[in-house]
Amino acid sequence: MSALSSALPDFPWDLLEPAKAIAAGYPGGIVDLSVGTPVDPVPASVRQALADASDSPGYPLTAGTPRLRAAIAGWLARECRASGELGVLPTIGSKELVAWLPTLLGVGPGDVVVIPSVCYPTYEVGVRLAGAEVIRADSLTAIGPDRRVKLIWINSPSNPTGKVLPVEHLRKVVDWARERGVTVVSDECYVSLGWDTTPVSVLADEVTGGDYTGVLAVHSLSKRSNLAGYRAGFVAGDPALVGELLAVRKHAGMIVPAPVQAAMVAALTDETHVAQQRARYASRRDTLRSALVKAGFEISFSEAGLYLWATRDEDCWVTVDRLARRGILAAPGAFYGPAAARHVRIALTASDERVAAAADRLAEPLTD
Ligand SMILES: Cc1ncc(COP(=O)(O)O)c(C=O)c1O
Repeated sequence: MSALSSALPDFPWDLLEPAKAIAAGYPGGIVDLSVGTPVDPVPASVRQALADASDSPGYPLTAGTPRLRAAIAGWLARECRASGELGVLPTIGSKELVAWLPTLLGVGPGDVVVIPSVCYPTYEVGVRLAGAEVIRADSLTAIGPDRRVKLIWINSPSNPTGKVLPVEHLRKVVDWARERGVTVVSDECYVSLGWDTTPVSVLADEVTGGDYTGVLAVHSLSKRSNLAGYRAGFVAGDPALVGELLAVRKHAGMIVPAPVQAAMVAALTDETHVAQQRARYASRRDTLRSALVKAGFEISFSEAGLYLWATRDEDCWVTVDRLARRGILAAPGAFYGPAAARHVRIALTASDERVAAAADRLAEPLTD
């Protein structure tokens, strides 16, 4: 038996512990902007739906209840302009799906999966779990004529950069993949958080024309509805691919708990709480953005999503260290790919009080 964990990269967050300890020692305490974990309340209507469904003695449906399936399809039609016949499937948050999708779709040794050059680390984890090979590339020309490519991940809005892929780019990726029989998977868990531009789903009619062959979109309620603790996500798109995922997940027991399924229906049929949460993040983003710019940072991309992608044009660990000595913890760009070693990622997920404290601290010179 070989340890599967040995195929995986080192868990990078351990490397941040020394900076965390320095930041924690700052008078007034740490402002932790390193992780994108929601801090605001779960909407009352969602908590009520969870409580109302708490008497759930039987096994839930892997495919999701008819109400949940209808809520997902309705949300995709309304919010993502996806008007065709979609396959939909709830997932236990989206991270597990990202980590297991290549395996669940039969990608394996000898196959190649393309991931963005700077990206959420779990795409690579999933490829390694499947025993396949990773290529990091942002353009189709950079991929070249490699016939071993089976799957391509895109992520718009991007974690960590906040970059948004325009409709023409999405269309080109879909056309390119269809010509080659490659599956396109678009991680869209920040789609509700556009600031300077409105993100477009790969499932939108202007991208696919209602034909989802070879295309999947991955969504999460963690950020839009503060449901990271519930583990609530879904995948949608090509009915044949979704059917394949369902067939394997049923056998493997990858089932969303019934009370969480009920809570998801409440979250997906209400956009008021999403607008309220967006407003909170917009205000924190303005405060942090102007404080960072005044402190000499340049902000790259960051047109959508939950992060500011910032640089002082120095090694990311030097920046992490400087910020830690002001009591602020940021994530080093190096966590997201070799091309990101001069950026840090600043999350908007801290209370208004902590964000104001960060802004005050950034007003002091960031000397060595
Ligand atoms: C790009 C991206 N995809 C997926 C996830 C997983 O989110 P969850 O498992 O909470 O749905 C995250 C979490 O930060 C993310 O940034």
